[in-house]
Amino acid sequence: MIALTTPYLWYTTRATGLVALILFTAVVSLGTLVANRIGGTTVGRFEINELHRSLSMVAVVFLVIHIVTTILDSYVSTGILSAFIPMTSAYKRLAVAFGAVAFDLILAVWISSLLKLRIKNSSWRFIHWFSWIAVSTAIVHGYLSGTDARKGIGLAVVVACTAVTLAAAVWRFFGRPTRAAGRTALSPLAQSVASVSTTPSPQRSGTSRPSTQRPTNKPFASSQRPNTKRGR
Ligand code: HEM
Repeated sequence: MIALTTPYLWYTTRATGLVALILFTAVVSLGTLVANRIGGTTVGRFEINELHRSLSMVAVVFLVIHIVTTILDSYVSTGILSAFIPMTSAYKRLAVAFGAVAFDLILAVWISSLLKLRIKNSSWRFIHWFSWIAVSTAIVHGYLSGTDARKGIGLAVVVACTAVTLAAAVWRFFGRPTRAAGRTALSPLAQSVASVSTTPSPQRSGTSRPSTQRPTNKPFASSQRPNTKRGR
């Protein structure tokens, strides 16, 4: 096997590790904004949700680069298995094990989100809770394994990510409003209510007066149901 090692691989591992940690902390914090129904007229809940989703993909890209450069660098004996299976790395066994657990949990959250339209909402929600454990184990991994994470800017990043994650968790637990009967921004129910309230009633067409018909929560007939399939 060709031994591949250069300081640049190592720098990339360290830099992408720190960036991935910052991005996953931001993703979890944005997820808390979505769950706690934050959003107004300037930046709405839909935009925050989209940012949450888009940023999670950027974070996964950085994480994949972090793992690939670690595996490629023959200076450390960390094989492909140790990215998925805890305690299989010869290099910093426990520290890398925390990283593997974080990666497995992130994979579960990511795959369940790709399959969101095919699985039960309760299953998706349950798996989505794993992201809290994932970020927590990633912080422990970063602190234990990092060359930079014990001093200077690296340490500041780890401390800041810990503080933000803790604050988000506390706020998520205590600040969440009562569920509004499943009417999230993307819920079909929300769309159907919105379309009923904006569609003029047939008897009144041609007049400029708004419809006085009250929107109902009754589900639509299957032929009228709005298309809820999203591209992803
Ligand atoms: C969500 C998952 C992960 C995150 C957020 C993450 C983040 C980090 C961070 C912040 C560092 C410290 C960088 C430094 O200060 O030098 C680090 C180091 C490291 N990570 Fe990860 N990591 C993750 C998963 C993994 C996995 C699955 C592996 C196994 C292939 C891995 C291998 C390593 C290694 C070997 C180091 C040590 C770098 C050094 O000694 O300087 N990481 N990681």
